[in-house]
Amino acid sequence: MSEGYAAARPPVHRRVVDLMAQRGALTGVVLDVGCGSGLSTKALDGIARKRIGVEPAEAMVRLADGVSPGAAFAVGRAEALPLRAASVVWITAAGALNYVDLPAFFGEAARILNPAGGVAVYDFSPGKVMRGSDSLTKWFQQFIARYPWAPAEALALDPEILGQLGMGFGVESAERFAVGIELTRAFYVSYMMTESNVAYALRRGVYEAEIRNWIESTLPEDGWGEIVFEGYWAIMQMWN
Ligand SMILES: C[S@@+](CC[C@H](N)C(=O)[O-])C[C@H]1O[C@@H](n2cnc3c(N)ncnc32)[C@H](O)[C@@H]1O
Repeated sequence: MSEGYAAARPPVHRRVVDLMAQRGALTGVVLDVGCGSGLSTKALDGIARKRIGVEPAEAMVRLADGVSPGAAFAVGRAEALPLRAASVVWITAAGALNYVDLPAFFGEAARILNPAGGVAVYDFSPGKVMRGSDSLTKWFQQFIARYPWAPAEALALDPEILGQLGMGFGVESAERFAVGIELTRAFYVSYMMTESNVAYALRRGVYEAEIRNWIESTLPEDGWGEIVFEGYWAIMQMWN
């Protein structure tokens, strides 16, 4: 999974980071919480003055220097951030808050943030729509039926839910987006191997080769090009 996160995730992050940067966010020192193998930290390159990534999975952190050179990485959790008070201007969280104890995280965010900044949360669904064809959407339904997601593994979040949390932060601006990215069929196979339903199947003892063979032999052959990723971003700031 760590290697897949380092090499086979679609480059959606930078497109979303650019949208939030247009609103004046993500300058100064930025902490990327739940940074995985560093792909979401890399997306801050050239926007943040300094990039720091924190991630609990050591195997992911080991790969992050190679994925995002010039950033600083540490093993840690969102609920106990290894940073000094008021030492960070922005926190980004890409698909990570769904796995976090939110009251503990927002308490830590209030401690380490400079009040001029905030928390920039974003997430996107698996790319299952191929522009101009419904074949991938149909395939994805079969994929999920064969390898289901783990029950209740992640907390569902969106700008409305984040706005109702009431943990000392409010949503200052938010948007839903649909970003199109060109992917080859071969890349898509490796990308699907990083999805959380595959991680769940592996934990239940299904062989990696079985899953990869199934994906390779059933995935549509034709029409590869733009895959659409739908998601949201929300910029949250501290209440005064
Ligand atoms: C969907 S991945 C996103 C990784 C990365 N942000 C990206 O976009 O490539 C979610 C990440 O959250 C991390 N995570 C899980 N629990 C966490 C916690 N309590 N604190 C911080 N990160 C956590 C996972 O280890 C995983 O790397």
